[in-house]
Amino acid sequence: MPVLTNTQTTDKPVELQEGCSQQPNESGSLMVQLRSVTKTYTNGIDGLLDVNLEIKKKDFLFITGHSGSGKSTLLKLLYGEELPTKGEVIVDELNVATLRGDRLSLLRRRIGIIFQDYKLIPQRTVAENVILVLQAQGYTRKEIQRRLEPTLKLVGLLTKADCFPDQLSGGEQQRVSIARAIVATPPLILADEPTGNLDPDNSWQVMQILQKLNKFGATVIVTTHDEQLVRRCNHPVVQVRNGILHRKD
Ligand SMILES: Nc1ncnc2c1ncn2[C@@H]1O[C@H](COP(=O)(O)OP(=O)(O)OP(=O)(O)O)[C@@H](O)[C@H]1O
Ligand SMILES: [Mg+2]
Repeated sequence: MPVLTNTQTTDKPVELQEGCSQQPNESGSLMVQLRSVTKTYTNGIDGLLDVNLEIKKKDFLFITGHSGSGKSTLLKLLYGEELPTKGEVIVDELNVATLRGDRLSLLRRRIGIIFQDYKLIPQRTVAENVILVLQAQGYTRKEIQRRLEPTLKLVGLLTKADCFPDQLSGGEQQRVSIARAIVATPPLILADEPTGNLDPDNSWQVMQILQKLNKFGATVIVTTHDEQLVRRCNHPVVQVRNGILHRKD
């Protein structure tokens, strides 16, 4: 289970759920470690302040918080879009700040990223959008075909494979972006407000897909504003407030 420490509030790691033991020496069982991480942007704004967080492999964690609190900053640090100003960000036993070029690309291949605004390519079909990532990674045509169908099936879009993004509803577009993020079966999935633009039914559908992926063994981290959805899912939650992480009971 995820372990949160925050030197602003306590010296000792806090367990997020009762009965879940912390195992700080077993780094092999951890997917993510933030060690005293501060991110100060060039304009002087602190995106995150002295954050400590441990997330084990196969955990599912919600990160909540108001707009501007630092949720996206935290995810960006995990996939190396931003570098910490202080502290260390370890993902899958790799110190993200030390990775460059190919080694950073290799880490990113092990991370599926889902954005609130989908980021689909409008001139490409659903199937093309999904397989683009595999083509870029040099997968064979046979392997691409082998992966495409079950992935589209998992997100409920098998019949929409030849549609273009503008022929889809918002919920369907978000599910294409999930398919694209998971088609290479990454062990870590980061979803930044994946339901931010969706109605409750579509939001729930997206959450069910993410929970299914977690059951299959992926570590899943989801940022959201949607308190109702968080309550319905019953997974551990941390809250970011002004760059500081707080345990949420
Ligand atoms: N590239 C940047 N340069 C300067 N400041 C930034 C940058 N990105 C984010 N910030 C600032 O860092 C703080 C945290 O931003 P972040 O995007 O992490 O918030 P968030 O919790 O994801 O918000 P939202 O819910 O609106 O997406 C905010 O004050 C924001 O203005
Ligand atoms: Mg954000």
